[in-house]
Amino acid sequence: MVGKLFILFGLIAVASATVKLQEMFSWNVLDWNYPDQYLKQQALQTGALIRENALPVGIERWRNKLFVSVPRWQPGIPATLNYIPLDAPYDPSPKLTPYPSFKGNELGDCENGLTTVYRIKADKCDRLWVLDVGTYGYDPNVTNVCPYALNVYDLHTDQRIRRYVFRPEDIVSSTFIANIALDEGLTCDDTFAYFSDELGYGLIAYSWEQNKSWRFSHSYFMPDPLVGDFNIAGLNFQWGAEGIFGISAGPMGADGYRTLYFSPLTSFTEFAVSTRILRDESKVKGSYRDFKVVGSRGRDTHTTAKVMDSTGVQLFALIDQNAVGCWNSALTLKPQNVALVDKDDVGLIFPCDVKIDDSRNVWVISDRMSTFLESELNYGEINFRIYVAPFDKLTEGTVCETNAPVVQTPKLLLNYASQTPLYNSPHLESISQIPSEIFLPATSPKTSTTSFNSFSSKNIYPKVSSSLRFSKQPSQPYYFPSSQSHTSNKNPWWLQNNY
Ligand SMILES: *[C@@H]1O[C@H](CO)[C@@H](O)[C@H](O)[C@H]1NC(C)=O
Ligand SMILES: *[C@@H]1O[C@H](CO)[C@@H](O)[C@H](O)[C@H]1NC(C)=O
Repeated sequence: MVGKLFILFGLIAVASATVKLQEMFSWNVLDWNYPDQYLKQQALQTGALIRENALPVGIERWRNKLFVSVPRWQPGIPATLNYIPLDAPYDPSPKLTPYPSFKGNELGDCENGLTTVYRIKADKCDRLWVLDVGTYGYDPNVTNVCPYALNVYDLHTDQRIRRYVFRPEDIVSSTFIANIALDEGLTCDDTFAYFSDELGYGLIAYSWEQNKSWRFSHSYFMPDPLVGDFNIAGLNFQWGAEGIFGISAGPMGADGYRTLYFSPLTSFTEFAVSTRILRDESKVKGSYRDFKVVGSRGRDTHTTAKVMDSTGVQLFALIDQNAVGCWNSALTLKPQNVALVDKDDVGLIFPCDVKIDDSRNVWVISDRMSTFLESELNYGEINFRIYVAPFDKLTEGTVCETNAPVVQTPKLLLNYASQTPLYNSPHLESISQIPSEIFLPATSPKTSTTSFNSFSSKNIYPKVSSSLRFSKQPSQPYYFPSSQSHTSNKNPWWLQNNY
């Protein structure tokens, strides 16, 4: 009898645990670091900190920082942009530290502070791209405290190096923007950012070089009215109006442009457009047919976030299935070519953001958002989790695995390079055409340029190639702890070689 029970519990444990994704951090409720206990007590007493109101929604890893964003949907959120120092002694439920500071996160200080931030993205030039949507509260109780403003930080100095307020024409009355994708060219100046307007059904492009934005509209940005019914974690609800949401740029193609993949949240269909169109303001009109239908992921594949790696494999959060899915863009997008890379009916409830870092680790955050919004979280249990796994481990054994990585030898790229003498071909390879085998997970501070002086047009990518050279041992540097061991490990495995 005892033996039988034991086996039963064992099976349950296996059935409700991620296999490939390793749980790194988890929280019942979030908390913040304050400079001292007095200030923290004061924040608790005045309601500046109400821990139960905080829901983490976005992540990004840059070197020794894991950024975590928390929208100001309710009062008591001391900072909307935060990080966890990855080189600190391991704490399974770390308190958040505001980035760049408490002051830089002041609600309603439009010029200097961030009010509400959703997804964030770091680039190869060590800049962090952050859209402050400027809102306080949540539908239907939302106030636009500040205008939509893009804020870009130099991650070496933690200084904001640009603030760009969206033009009134970029926004409509129903605008809601959560997602950002970057389109990195050959120089730091040649960077575009794209923002999906979920409820205004638009796509906004921003050019770093021109410091200018423009807005595309398209019927492919609309929700599919047939799939507005959601069932997540035992809750049934209807999100029928949710349009273009998850967006991600693929690797650079032979023509020197990337493909921006996108899907409405209320849809199972994937669409795409070349960045050749998006980068060109004049294409705002007359480009209807440049937007393409890629295919269908199949039933129950509402997705909140997606990311594509340099080999053209896309990972996406699957909120109906408590899972992360994959698709290799070398194959037709149809249900047979979509696989789950991991699934967990407890831990992965509402996978909310997926990112790939420079070391080809995949980071996933799950946050039970649907329960938070449509019902109530139980703070007696774990609600928020951050997972990590090497990219190639995740796709191993699935239809998405790239045996022969897609290596492109773009002709146009070389033309670009000759116009940009600072940029030679080893660098080119390091951007997007590196086969997965030659990525090394380690990027030591020594091998990347440390100062990013003032973003002049002379700036080129840091010399990442030296850290990517050229060990054909993709799996060796990755070390997986057993699930118990990482709690006592002072040097977490994902940093062991890195810093
Ligand atoms: C809207 O905000 C007001 C003021 O903060 C609050 O009293 C009210 O309960 C909120 N309503 C909803 C539906 O959240
Ligand atoms: C970019 O545009 C914004 C307007 O939103 C302006 O305030 C800022 O000074 C500009 N920055 C640069 C570097 O031109």
